[in-house]
Amino acid sequence: MSMQTEFLIWNEEATDQFAQYIQAGEVVAFPTETVYGLGADATNPEAVEKIFSAKGRPADNPLIVHVVSTEQIARYVTEISPDAKKLIEAFMPGPLTVVLPSNGKISTQVTAGLDTIGVRIPDHPAAQELIRKAGLPVAAPSANLSGKPSPTSAIHVFQDLNGKIKAILDGGSTGVGLESTVVDCTGDQPEIIRPGGVTQLEIEEVLGYPIEITSVAIAEHEPKSPGMKYTHYQPDVPLVLIDGDKDFFQAKIDHYRANGQKVGVLASEELATTLSADQIHMCGTIENIATIANQLYQSLRAFKQTEVDLILAEVFPTDGLGQAIMNRLYKAADRIETEENDR
Ligand code: TXA
Ligand code: MG
Repeated sequence: MSMQTEFLIWNEEATDQFAQYIQAGEVVAFPTETVYGLGADATNPEAVEKIFSAKGRPADNPLIVHVVSTEQIARYVTEISPDAKKLIEAFMPGPLTVVLPSNGKISTQVTAGLDTIGVRIPDHPAAQELIRKAGLPVAAPSANLSGKPSPTSAIHVFQDLNGKIKAILDGGSTGVGLESTVVDCTGDQPEIIRPGGVTQLEIEEVLGYPIEITSVAIAEHEPKSPGMKYTHYQPDVPLVLIDGDKDFFQAKIDHYRANGQKVGVLASEELATTLSADQIHMCGTIENIATIANQLYQSLRAFKQTEVDLILAEVFPTDGLGQAIMNRLYKAADRIETEENDR
């Protein structure tokens, strides 16, 4: 189904309009502090259904419910454990999603039939005003076509979803640039099921003990979060991770170019400035890993099939936000090439 997609710059009037769209069961894209979301009334099954069809998202992958207050979270769950409460108090509003036992008031389309819900309070004034004005919990996945890198600007949403959704609210580029950290709080101890904008260390500091994280690298485990089992974050061009120093990286570039391929490079400023290739996208500095998180998806989207045949990407350090960055890159990658393997 094709429709005219409205594109509005975020202001009070636009927010009022978007709140009405949500109340009317329409699907709209809006900025959050992590990535753009594709929102609909979480209590309206038909509205939620439209999110899945616009994105081409498998129906068994649940959506995060966006709200504006802890009181509002309490309305949709049977229980908030003491640890979950600590995490909510410490990190919300912010890039954290907690999975809690559902009380059944949120549509089963949103939860993909699970008896739990993922819920978060976004830390962005446009998202908060929109949810507050709509007066509803808003179900919202990232506003990309399923399988593509998440959108960090309204233009990315337009590229993926123009003609498929009611409207896009342009609030500029998002800050964090990666999705929220998803923490399952329904078991004995909280467990990270998707690394994201809040780091493992920050969470452990609040809880006061070390916790488990599932599937940090290539998903070898049984998927716990249903979202883990699908291809994700894929650029238009195959991506190969290169694990080695700058000489190894340049040798890989030269090898592929000698085979007649046009090579794109995705690397930090530090590495990129030492390399030569057909196209190079610098995505921030190792000195400040948040800059890499912020620019990662935009850089992945920048490579075009018409210009390069493959992307060679840096393996970043996995401390702090690096954990979430490498989680996304492993999922986006076809394979990894290491110095070890070449010996
Ligand atoms: O930062 C974000 O989280 C963004 C913005 C828009 O809020 N949203 C986002 O949504 O990344 P999405 O749908 O792209 O990813 C949601 C993730 C998926 O991996 C999904 O499986 C998991 O959260 N999830 C949601 N509800 C869950 C539940 N009840 N149990 C387990 N995992 C859940
Ligand atoms: Mg997503």
